[in-house]
Amino acid sequence: MATYRYHPEIAKLGAAHLVTPDLDKSLWFFRDVIGLHVVARTENKVYLRADLEAEHHSLVLEAGDRARLDHVSWRVRRPEDLESFHDLLTENGNEVTVQPADAEDGYGESLRLQMPTGHRLRLYWDVEKPAVAEADRSVLLNQRYRSWHHGISVRRIDHVNLWTTHDPEANHQWLTDNLGFKLREYIQTPGGRIGGWMSVTPLVHDIALMKAGPHETTPARMHHLAFWLDNAADVLRAADIVAEAGIKPDQGPGKHGVSQAMFLYVRDPGSGHRVEIFSNGYLIFDPDWEPVEWGVDRIATALTMWGPTDYVPHTDDNVMNTTTEA
Ligand SMILES: [Fe+2]
Repeated sequence: MATYRYHPEIAKLGAAHLVTPDLDKSLWFFRDVIGLHVVARTENKVYLRADLEAEHHSLVLEAGDRARLDHVSWRVRRPEDLESFHDLLTENGNEVTVQPADAEDGYGESLRLQMPTGHRLRLYWDVEKPAVAEADRSVLLNQRYRSWHHGISVRRIDHVNLWTTHDPEANHQWLTDNLGFKLREYIQTPGGRIGGWMSVTPLVHDIALMKAGPHETTPARMHHLAFWLDNAADVLRAADIVAEAGIKPDQGPGKHGVSQAMFLYVRDPGSGHRVEIFSNGYLIFDPDWEPVEWGVDRIATALTMWGPTDYVPHTDDNVMNTTTEA
């Protein structure tokens, strides 16, 4: 009989940790406009989460001298997966650091590692699930904060979109071999693969990794962090809230070909970090899903089925950098 070998799994995207040079302005954007809730605060960090989220946080904002993505956290499927991942990742030649439990961020012991691109990742199982103050609580027992509490009231974190000057295809393979992400859709050009959307959940992507543009020189960047809304009308409402806050949306509302999702891109005026408000889209349940290839003749449709195709031109007033360096 064949020997059974246990394989650890990633369950979901947990959180993004962003550094901002203007914490007050970034907090205003993510709390008052995006509609996240502050769970904990220290002198230089704020921990936030969305209406549906029970875990301690899905976003960390940290004060720093420049805008950057510090790391992305992923929850493993079972408690024992942390140790199994440590063995698997080490066997695969990755440098893995064990981080002791951190009372500040609500995480138990976690693993730190780096993609070949330089993007830093963290894996965790134990996480605190702080109670919600009664005045903020939903009447729904399956939801933490009451509906439409404030701002856009995003429902949950959805995905991260990372950019690299390295070969995306090799790093898609790294994500599959090391963390079990499945490739769902990708864009192929004669010069190579320029982007891939990958998931461990039925979502089309929990993570996307794209080829950085020719003007990008650093290997590891974040293009955007996405939060979920329930339907397309909510994305239109979000566009109104963004406009009423005095912020010009970066792009959208529109509809992607890849994922078939509605999008609205907007930037945090405190940091330049780009946020995507995201809804609709299709889900994948087939265990033998064949990755969908978009050829060079279909790139425009892949990125934008309909809606604006160009980003708003940026001035120093409304943006700090085109993508956020990791
Ligand atoms: Fe996205």
